[in-house]
Amino acid sequence: MTQEMVIVLDFGGQYNQLVARRVRECNVYCEIYSYKTPIEKIKEMNPKGIILTGGPNSCYEEDSPTYSKELFELGIPVLGLCYGAQLMHHILGGKVERAEVREYGKTEVLVDTGSQIFHNVLPSTICWMSHFDYISKLAPGFVVTAKTANCPVAAAENIEKGLYSIQFHPEVLHTQEGTKMLYNFVRGVCGCIGDWKMDSFVEQSIQAIREKVGDGKVLCALSGGVDSSVAAVLLAKAVGDQLTCVFVDHGLLRKNEGDEVEAVFGEKGNYNLNFIRVNAQQRFYEKLAGVTEPEKKRKIIGEEFIRVFEEEAKKIGAVDFLVQGTIYPDVVESGLGGESAVIKSHHNVGGLPDYVDFKEIIEPLRNLFKDEVRKAGLELGLPEYLVFRQPFPGPGLGIRIIGDVTEEKVRIVQDADAIYREEIAKAGLDKEINQYFAALTNMRSVGVMGDERTYDYAIALRAVKTIDFMTAEAAEIPFEVLNKVMNRIINEVRGVNRVLYDVSSKPPGTIEFE
Ligand code: XMP
Repeated sequence: MTQEMVIVLDFGGQYNQLVARRVRECNVYCEIYSYKTPIEKIKEMNPKGIILTGGPNSCYEEDSPTYSKELFELGIPVLGLCYGAQLMHHILGGKVERAEVREYGKTEVLVDTGSQIFHNVLPSTICWMSHFDYISKLAPGFVVTAKTANCPVAAAENIEKGLYSIQFHPEVLHTQEGTKMLYNFVRGVCGCIGDWKMDSFVEQSIQAIREKVGDGKVLCALSGGVDSSVAAVLLAKAVGDQLTCVFVDHGLLRKNEGDEVEAVFGEKGNYNLNFIRVNAQQRFYEKLAGVTEPEKKRKIIGEEFIRVFEEEAKKIGAVDFLVQGTIYPDVVESGLGGESAVIKSHHNVGGLPDYVDFKEIIEPLRNLFKDEVRKAGLELGLPEYLVFRQPFPGPGLGIRIIGDVTEEKVRIVQDADAIYREEIAKAGLDKEINQYFAALTNMRSVGVMGDERTYDYAIALRAVKTIDFMTAEAAEIPFEVLNKVMNRIINEVRGVNRVLYDVSSKPPGTIEFE
């Protein structure tokens, strides 16, 4: 779709998506590939630059992820970060050894501002370090361009060959001038002009969708969330009346959400989406009965979704394309893009059944990060309140109920969640907390209400602050707000006698509570 591309070769580090996001913030299109990607494929893609990521291994150990030397001889600039930096020196004749002490956290780094990578960077700046191994001997032709008190080679370069290595993590926001360094690499060293912009994405996507679809019929899975709403409106702009949007109410939505979605996108809404609502609540509850394992629940919900769509498609007649609002982090986290471990399958990617009764699936947002989807939504004229909604997972409350899902439990978590959201908004905290919701723990415990002994459920409240949803910290909600929420939930929601606040960060937790 765009000429210019930088590729990130993934060696299994935790910040790999961040690298790609930062590059895109420099208006340069970037994709993540596994380090196992053959060199022929890389040559075919003809990237303007290659970035090697961090990773958990030691490059001098047998069986550690590596790459052929040829990568550094393609004439394409390469930037190695952390493990990627060590690997570059290891392969090219330098030496990497285990350090006596691990260097971890925010660290002062002294940089050579004459290096193109450190153009406009302060001579002393703060970076984020996380490594055991260090480069003890440079590969031939390299010079040191940055160091810290404990790390003699915090950065090095071989300008003639276009090879650059950085031991720390410029992609992490703790590295105060990290984005500038990546900008210097992609826009400076690689010479990218920066043609990755949302208005051109929207325009090019509409064109590409029209070409692909021809006069075929398109069915879109609309959930009312940001991703599928943007996908639906994009498709409507591209193919107009050929599109039908099906909204499946799986009975796992937030309180009143089904009616709200219908009000915005249905007949009385503004978007002419040929909107059909399918009330499939009971069908999902039956399929989920007795199932406790979260991954299994995700698969069941995902599969049932597709079945409902197939049935709707048959009613409409010859449907050629199915649209899904999959976005790039779903693809990478499902282990389909990069090298990171499969953490969990997202219902619209990993949970897709083998047999799908459509000619093809269209995923117009498959290459976008969330903030880019939002920009595309605004570009398409969607209202801000829809575009900036907090995320709600496809499998819905099915994965916010620990253990088996029943209609009664759904009612409990819906009511508790509605109260929580109302109070967070009243306290004016909804803008500063990125995601917040109630989940139903499967724990029941003894309580006392009035003069009665109760044996009821505990509700867990979750609220996180995050920029990229890859890492997150629990939000510091004032105690009086929590207290009010607790009081209201216990008084107003039958079946709950305890309210807990989840203070876990991600990692090691996840944002969802499943
Ligand atoms: P976790 O729980 O992995 O969540 O820390 C990260 C973000 O992803 C959302 N999420 C999902 N979104 N389908 C989605 O569309 C899913 O299956 C899914 N699972 C998690 C989650 O709400 C959070 O914003």
